Amino acid sequence: MSKFMDWIDARFPATKMWEDHLSKYYAPRNFNFLYFFGSLALLVLVNQIVTGVWLTMSFTPSAEEAFASVEYIMRDVEYGWILRYLHSTGASAFFIVVYLHMFRGLLYGSYQKPRELVWLFGMLIYLALMAEAFMGYLLPWGQMSYWGAQVIISLFGAIPVIGDDLTQWIRGDYLISGITLNRFFALHVVALPIVILGLVVLHILALHEVGSNNPDGVDIKKKKDENGIPLDGIPFHPYYTVKDIVGVVVFLFVFCAVVFFFPEMGGYFLEKPNFEQANAFKTPEHIAPVWYFTPFYAILRAVPDKLMGVIAMGAAIAVLFVLPWLDRSPVRSMRYKGWISKVFLLVFCVAFVILGVLGVLAPTPGRTLLSQVCTVLYFAYFLLMPFYTRLEKTKPVPERVTG
Ligand code: HEM
Repeated sequence: MSKFMDWIDARFPATKMWEDHLSKYYAPRNFNFLYFFGSLALLVLVNQIVTGVWLTMSFTPSAEEAFASVEYIMRDVEYGWILRYLHSTGASAFFIVVYLHMFRGLLYGSYQKPRELVWLFGMLIYLALMAEAFMGYLLPWGQMSYWGAQVIISLFGAIPVIGDDLTQWIRGDYLISGITLNRFFALHVVALPIVILGLVVLHILALHEVGSNNPDGVDIKKKKDENGIPLDGIPFHPYYTVKDIVGVVVFLFVFCAVVFFFPEMGGYFLEKPNFEQANAFKTPEHIAPVWYFTPFYAILRAVPDKLMGVIAMGAAIAVLFVLPWLDRSPVRSMRYKGWISKVFLLVFCVAFVILGVLGVLAPTPGRTLLSQVCTVLYFAYFLLMPFYTRLEKTKPVPERVTG
């Protein structure tokens, strides 16, 4: 075995990579359960790719046959139903995991110097993931696939001068058609997965260059032993590879329960109108995107003017990109930040969830007002951050990690 590895290592840095990223990558010893979600995101990514490849084997990307081919997968292809439910549940699980992963970043200031690029690659992954989910949703060619895409693509029409040409360019037709379905299929199955995989590699390389943050926000590289190993660091393998198995088991337990018992999740993971084939002449009573887009959809609808709404929605995502430069706090973790930061983060999270709920519901004057209030609170968290993080009194950060 060792001779074989010597042969490989003389030609490819296999052992070096194993050591750099696993057995000699020293991670802080105080990771908590919020650190499970990075490895869980990787797990879900693999699930999506594997089930996606097998779904593709039986799916037909044409307006005439797409809907029926999904029914064929569900009823006739052996284990087709489980492939589809693993993939559709996986899409929602991906966003749950990624939202919790991002929340951990906000909580412990993981986007702060020197992890700005880790955050930026993460944000690019998030954008690509949204595009991936949006395009995947058109493929089963149900009523919500069709009309959801119709609503979102028509938003580009609000852009002055180029709007109409742009929507036509995206659709490849005067209305959503088999041509749109075909190009979304190509992007969903080939182009975006490559982009996402590439970005995940960059994300992890950037993280391993600077080292992981931790719930205390303490820089473990400042205190090293005589061999240059951080005193508060432990090798990722075997300690965290084993610990992550706990997260994987708990996750798979919940995930399988959903796949086997509630794959539609009351219409949130698979929406009811999508059990009816796309029909360009029949608009569903109520069009709402899948739950993971609804906070942004609520922001869009909170603004009365269409163009301004589109801008607000874009800004809600864009502002996350500049987060590392908005936080001026001398400390990273919420544990040592002042009470203003804590209140703002809490209010931001509550506003985000309320927006998510409002985005699912049909608008009423009361709901629109509430979504406007939550939109203001959403932006206040970011735009006031340079001020409250500088003004507030922080607690002293310990020299070494706690716990
Ligand atoms: C496919 C999606 C993603 C995958 C597979 C992924 C994977 C990972 C992994 C394996 C880690 C190291 C383990 C951990 O700290 O949990 C990590 C860390 C991190 N990720 Fe992601 N990630 C994804 C998306 C995102 C997104 C959308 C963001 C934010 C915009 C993000 C921000 C971060 C940050 C800031 C860290 C460092 C955390 C720390 O050291 O405290 N990631 N990611």
